[in-house]
Amino acid sequence: MKANGEKFAVLTAYDFTFSKLIENAEIEVVLVGDSLGNVVQGRDSTIPVTVDEMAYHTAAVKRGNNRALLITDMPFMSYASELQAMDNAAILMQAGAQMVKLEGGAWLADTVQLLSERGIPVCGHVGLTPQSVHKLGGYKVQGKEDQAAEQMIADAQALEEAGAELIVVECVPSALGKLLSESLRIPVIGIGAGPDTDAQVLVLHDMLGISQRLPRFSRNFLEEHDSIQDAITAYGDAVRAGSFPAAEHCFK
Ligand code: KIV
Repeated sequence: MKANGEKFAVLTAYDFTFSKLIENAEIEVVLVGDSLGNVVQGRDSTIPVTVDEMAYHTAAVKRGNNRALLITDMPFMSYASELQAMDNAAILMQAGAQMVKLEGGAWLADTVQLLSERGIPVCGHVGLTPQSVHKLGGYKVQGKEDQAAEQMIADAQALEEAGAELIVVECVPSALGKLLSESLRIPVIGIGAGPDTDAQVLVLHDMLGISQRLPRFSRNFLEEHDSIQDAITAYGDAVRAGSFPAAEHCFK
């Protein structure tokens, strides 16, 4: 789709029922995000989420969706060493994941290569990486300074070189989201990264307007539709048409 200049939609899911609605809406990629720590478990970060919890939700989502590519987040500290990464990725793949997502930059390149060579497709995640919230000093827009932006591009390129097949970029200025997409061969999935990334992802509860706080970069699609099914379908259509995100969802 990237080669053809076609955008695609990614949405998080954590259970069978919503996964089925996402399948019906023909959303291309479903992400079992560790954001389940926030929106399902009511925690104030993703840090407490465990591999077993991710595996439980992955299996439920897999039962509801045979159409979308299913990516599962590797949770906090589950890939701190290469051995841990392999063991934990195996658990998630055996639960139904078709790709795992890891947060971090070039320091993860060896891990990405190891997983990839062993038959585990990998999605990177740069920009705002919520598992590092305490290092980052809060949930803030990343890559605003030239040096930080250049470092992020170098990190993403190192992950691609190591074998990553997708990259999420979270909360960066729109210009950096565009530059990242242009600098990589693999598709870049943006969240709060402007309209020019190859794909968009949102947290399901945010785009339905049922989370505790609607992030600036999200949009409540349920507000404009009569059913959850229609709202999810509208999200996919808006991403593919390029009408989401609009200027009010973007950072400078
Ligand atoms: O955990 C999650 O839902 C994510 C998305 C916000 C990209 O990583």
